[in-house]
Amino acid sequence: MMTSASTLIPGRSSIRTGNKGPSWCQAKTGVVSAHPTPILVKLRPASPILRLSPDIPLYSARRVRMAQTFTTRATLGLTKPTPSVIPHIAFSAKEVDFSEWKGDLLAVAVLEKDMSKDESSKFKNAILRRLDMLLGGLLGDASAEEDFAGKTGQLTVIRLRESGFRRIGLFGLGQSTLSPAPSTYQGLGDAIAAAAKAVQASNVAVVLASSEGFSEDSKLNTASAIASGILLGVYEDERFKTESKRLLLKSVDILGLAVGAGIDSKLKYAGDVCSGVIFGRELVNSPANVLTPVVLADEASKIASMYRDVLTATILDEDQCKEYKMGSYLGVAAASASANPPRFIHIHYKPPNGQVKAKLAIVGKGLTFDSGGYNLKTGPGCSIELMKFDMGGSAAALGAAKSIGQIKPPGVEVHFIVAACENMISGTGMRPGDIVTASNGKTIEVNNTDAEGRLTLADALVYACKQGAEKVVDLATLTGACVVALGPTVAGVFTPSDELEKELRTASEVTGEKFWRLPLEESYWESMKSGVADMVNTGPRQGGAINAALFLKQFVDEKVQWLHIDMAGPVWNEKKKAATGFGVSTLVEWVLKNSSA
Ligand code: BES
Ligand code: MN
Ligand code: ZN
Repeated sequence: MMTSASTLIPGRSSIRTGNKGPSWCQAKTGVVSAHPTPILVKLRPASPILRLSPDIPLYSARRVRMAQTFTTRATLGLTKPTPSVIPHIAFSAKEVDFSEWKGDLLAVAVLEKDMSKDESSKFKNAILRRLDMLLGGLLGDASAEEDFAGKTGQLTVIRLRESGFRRIGLFGLGQSTLSPAPSTYQGLGDAIAAAAKAVQASNVAVVLASSEGFSEDSKLNTASAIASGILLGVYEDERFKTESKRLLLKSVDILGLAVGAGIDSKLKYAGDVCSGVIFGRELVNSPANVLTPVVLADEASKIASMYRDVLTATILDEDQCKEYKMGSYLGVAAASASANPPRFIHIHYKPPNGQVKAKLAIVGKGLTFDSGGYNLKTGPGCSIELMKFDMGGSAAALGAAKSIGQIKPPGVEVHFIVAACENMISGTGMRPGDIVTASNGKTIEVNNTDAEGRLTLADALVYACKQGAEKVVDLATLTGACVVALGPTVAGVFTPSDELEKELRTASEVTGEKFWRLPLEESYWESMKSGVADMVNTGPRQGGAINAALFLKQFVDEKVQWLHIDMAGPVWNEKKKAATGFGVSTLVEWVLKNSSA
């Protein structure tokens, strides 16, 4: 178990942190141990979001002033989250035979075909056969009594008395496939995490009944999928609960898949990605009274400080955004410009050394709350109470920044960009029908204040292109229409570039996150014309996700390869009533594919 005691200090003026910055927000860090195994996947803490004064390090007069300024504005509702509790599990890849392993739970993953028996009612599968003999036929009996057939999600756990392991669990994986899907093994990891919690196991071993035929690569990817499934399955966000459960799971041994440097670095990679996913989830789960644009910017500054060797954060306040002529973004921010002012966030990743071959930008929609503005979200199904998740794109970007800060891939530069604000209602707010001017000079008639995400992204995309990025990916909880089209778990992809689409698809095949390309149908642009300005911000309901993507395209330099991800569905897990951390793992994989690692 690991907690962090660092504190954030929302500031009013622009703050630059990073390479040259101060150390005031450096968190206590856990270091992933080097060789030899075990790989201690000790996740760095997701920085605790918004903890107020007592432990603010007062390093300079300026900071004292900022801290005081902030303490006069207490969090609405007086909510103070407790620090994150990040799972801290030692993963080891071992060659040990399962019969010699000692511990709390031996998890055996079985395919349907592994359950078949020969004429003398013995398992045909060599591992199950040996295990069954070792346990005096218990495995065969239990599986028969409980109808365990190895189907996906099936599970049976047996308590043992005279054995090195206190329990054995059979975990069904369903039918075999030639190339193992990452989601299958993430699902296995998740099921193991749940079982470990249920039986209060502190050490677990995982063995696959059949892994023959796996390529070396699939073995490594399988191990890392199991590890991330376990880490993310064990993790629960309890920062806003008054009671929290203890994390008992301490070590996981992955037996018989592979050993050596290759698997060790894969397991470390899985840990680095998971810490970004958890950070992203915590940002999204944080309610809008706690996670304001200023707090989001402070979280970004903290990430940059934590990995100051490679990350630099630049935070712009409203006046600085005015200098950049970001009228479209500031129009959205106007209603709460004094209550909860906007912050434009830019984290720059530069590799520790060597030549840079690719320059990338990741832009995330960062609406800490979307009320709809004067086009207020009303009526059943509008989900206004969930609109804290409207910064899911920015959470994906900042989560990826955290992981990239840890991994430090060579040969690639990345800009992480978020135009953070709220979409609220007030006398200073933007009205339907107002005309705003974006930083590329284009004018927009705002025919609907609830189509605000694209207005903020417009200026963020212009800024990203000005940074010299060759490839720009943006992520946004942009349209309800995309959820109607693809449902709650699949994100929409829009891009004029087949090449970039392929890059993202390849990355997603490793991570298991689901994306589906939709067309950028240019003929629909006709419906976005305005009588008085260059364009309106809202077209007809039909093709709503496409219209939004066409709008964004107006703000991207033609020489830049650009891809837009509408993640309005997958940002949130309706069953768990919690954020998914969607996007982080695929973004990290995409950045790595563009690196020279
Ligand atoms: N943040 C919403 C999109 C959204 C809706 C995400 C539901 C997740 C669930 C976005 O700002 C929005 O309000 N979009 C409008 C656009 C419309 C006014 C053209 C929408 O989808 O209804
Ligand atoms: Mn909206
Ligand atoms: Zn929105």
